Amino acid sequence: MTPDLFDIAVVGGGAVGCSVAYHAAKRGASVALFEADRIASGASGAAAGMLNAQAESHSPGPMLDLMLESRKMHETFSGELREHSGLDPEYIRAGTLRVATDEAFAGKLESTYEWQRREGLSAEWLDADDTRELGPGLSPATLAGLYFPEEGQINSPRLVKALALAAANMGAEILECASVSEFLMDGDRLAGLRSVLGDFHAGAVVLAGGAASGSLASKLGVEIPVFPVKGEILSVEARHPTPISANIWSDACYLVPKRDGRIVIGATEETGVYDRRPTLGGVARLSGAAARLVPEVSGLPFSSAWGGLRPGTPDGMPILGAADEWGNLFIATGHYRNGVLLAPITGEIISALALGEEPKMDVSPFSPGRLREKAKR
Ligand code: FAD
Ligand code: GLY
Repeated sequence: MTPDLFDIAVVGGGAVGCSVAYHAAKRGASVALFEADRIASGASGAAAGMLNAQAESHSPGPMLDLMLESRKMHETFSGELREHSGLDPEYIRAGTLRVATDEAFAGKLESTYEWQRREGLSAEWLDADDTRELGPGLSPATLAGLYFPEEGQINSPRLVKALALAAANMGAEILECASVSEFLMDGDRLAGLRSVLGDFHAGAVVLAGGAASGSLASKLGVEIPVFPVKGEILSVEARHPTPISANIWSDACYLVPKRDGRIVIGATEETGVYDRRPTLGGVARLSGAAARLVPEVSGLPFSSAWGGLRPGTPDGMPILGAADEWGNLFIATGHYRNGVLLAPITGEIISALALGEEPKMDVSPFSPGRLREKAKR
């Protein structure tokens, strides 16, 4: 039976919202999650599913620490979710290989290699022959490679569905076609929210609406500077064995070999575009770049193309933590290119905060207020 008062109401059924719901339910809280459309219908359903803590990092610091911690969590997360949901999120740890076909990009990869080795991270610098040995289908134009053996990948839509199912199996209410339109206020606290399904009361509200989080927060007078960064992406059907096993990523595209035999090829980046449909130009750019990198893929049957809106932020870092304006509003958004990677740690941290517990990592570098402070300077 639905309780009159939930401990936590989560807005958004992507990787982030579903992970918050899962972790909160696992902590014994009563949870209701509201998704405007279907679970995983947003960016999380579009993602390539790479778990690139190192390959997507630009420098040491709190963002790298958060990404490494979440990548570590993914190693056991898949098995845990399979057990609680019956769905396998298809975690694979085959590494990510960044490939250079010109000197300029090889130079950038080399400096990444150097700072990551100084940080004690595992990374291997490869000459052309060793790079092509690791990625046998790679073009003869390959100059050098940087291999991150601890990176992995996952089937992102399956991960999100597994999170939602596991949360539901632990008692969470997962409500689809349940767009949230308003919030219920009680002095300086939120009392709950209004969705198309009616009013729901909750002790805490978590905003995890992806690229739509800004407009939702503005209903509460809270400024969350999240904007859409459109990504187009496509897939081809690989022959067995696939020409690649690791995630392969040049400066123009990436190829991710999936367990079901597809190779996912991504992704474009366009800031401020709300129409997430793939375009002919996007498909042409990606297929051209992929064929230059791994020539064999141009002969593979095209499977499909799709797009999604990454929730971007001005400094490229997620927005995590309590909103200053309301005592019981928690923000979990702005994960830009890495929301699938960061889903486990975000769920862990935000569910702890929303339940008044100490989070396992310091989230002050990601506080909602930091962007206002930066804007003032
Ligand atoms: P979303 O998945 O967008 O979920 C937000 C949800 O909120 C949506 O389902 C939406 O319908 C719902 N919502 C919005 N408004 C309301 C409302 N009013 N009421 C109720 N519900 C509402 N990340 C990686 O880690 N690895 C990758 O390889 C990777 N590849 C990517 C490739 C592409 C092409 C794209 C587009 C993104 C990729 N990303 C990747 C980034 C990743 O997809 C995002 O960072 C992540 O999905 C964000 O998750 P989210 O839950 O915050 O947002
Ligand atoms: N992290 C891959 C992407 O956002 O396209």
